[in-house]
Amino acid sequence: MEKVNVALIGAGGMANGVHYPSLAEFDDVNLVGLCDLIPEKLKATAERFEIENTFTDYKRMIEKTNPDAIYVLMPPHHLFDLVIHSLSQGLHVFIEKPPGVTLHQIKSMALLAEKKGCKTMVGFNRRFIPLMKQVKEMVEEKGQIIQCVSTFHKNSPAALYYNGAIDVLSCDAIHTVDALRWMAGGDVKVVSSDINSYYSERENSFNALVKFENGCTGIIMTNWAVGGRIHIFEMHAKGISALINPDLDGSAVIFEGSSRKEITTVEAAGTDANYKAYGFFGENRHFIDCIKSDKQPDTCFADAVKTMELVRLMYANRID
Ligand SMILES: NC(=O)c1ccc[n+]([C@@H]2O[C@H](COP(=O)([O-])OP(=O)(O)OC[C@H]3O[C@@H](n4cnc5c(N)ncnc54)[C@H](O)[C@@H]3O)[C@@H](O)[C@H]2O)c1
Repeated sequence: MEKVNVALIGAGGMANGVHYPSLAEFDDVNLVGLCDLIPEKLKATAERFEIENTFTDYKRMIEKTNPDAIYVLMPPHHLFDLVIHSLSQGLHVFIEKPPGVTLHQIKSMALLAEKKGCKTMVGFNRRFIPLMKQVKEMVEEKGQIIQCVSTFHKNSPAALYYNGAIDVLSCDAIHTVDALRWMAGGDVKVVSSDINSYYSERENSFNALVKFENGCTGIIMTNWAVGGRIHIFEMHAKGISALINPDLDGSAVIFEGSSRKEITTVEAAGTDANYKAYGFFGENRHFIDCIKSDKQPDTCFADAVKTMELVRLMYANRID
């Protein structure tokens, strides 16, 4: 397959901000159709990315454009039917995080994808941030990661996702859960968690101690009721430690005994364009490459089941 024909559902924020700008730069991708329910958004996005065929009915778009793959970029509670229909047509499917609202939904999606032989991907972009990838490689050169920390704080105590359709952990703090699994590089053995509601009617702080089968110890710390965005990661292996803040103005510091090396997010990415430096370009490239080389993407639906399963274990194993 030289070129991948991709159809697109969704002309919203993530589509316009990061995914379609990435896809538009790939010579081996044809954008064969775009669908959105809102005509003004459909028109503006189609014009911006020079997409000829526009639709308000995604089933009709699939019928008319016969794509190899489809992007379904919309809020988690609207995803399921569209993803199941796309998989049932044998299409490779890319979705944003979170992969639906429940573990059951992503399991159903993963089962159908396997049955139909589809490549699938969830946009867990933290794994594709050039700085995160570079530092993980540096740490793993010294040995297996034996301890890792995934931290995400915000100043938004009453945050309500999609009018309450989904909880904070499954919707947004899930980035820490997925990144922890990626850093640890193994399956979860046992979990203990502490979950709180600070100054809110809803739970907004999720903390966990996770033991992995490979011996790695992982720690998740998230709190939406504190001072502001702190989204940082720690990776430790024998004789090496890294503290990483991959935000656009951030950097990683790597310690090896008395040596201290610093790499900025922008240096690692070679650009200060957010869609590239924060992993979105890389994840889109990975999806297209996997389709072309007949490999399942690293963050396929079956893998996302494991991330949602860790979310479930956090709720199930509270110490409070
Ligand atoms: N990876 C990240 O860091 C990150 C950051 C922000 C948001 N997200 C995720 O991205 C996802 C999308 O968020 P967004 O802000 O881009 O959404 P959005 O609301 O801006 O866009 C969704 C679009 O889908 C369209 N739509 C809804 N149902 C449709 C249907 N049946 N057919 C056709 N079009 C339909 C809407 O009209 C809208 O234009 C969310 O799951 C969110 O959690 C991820």
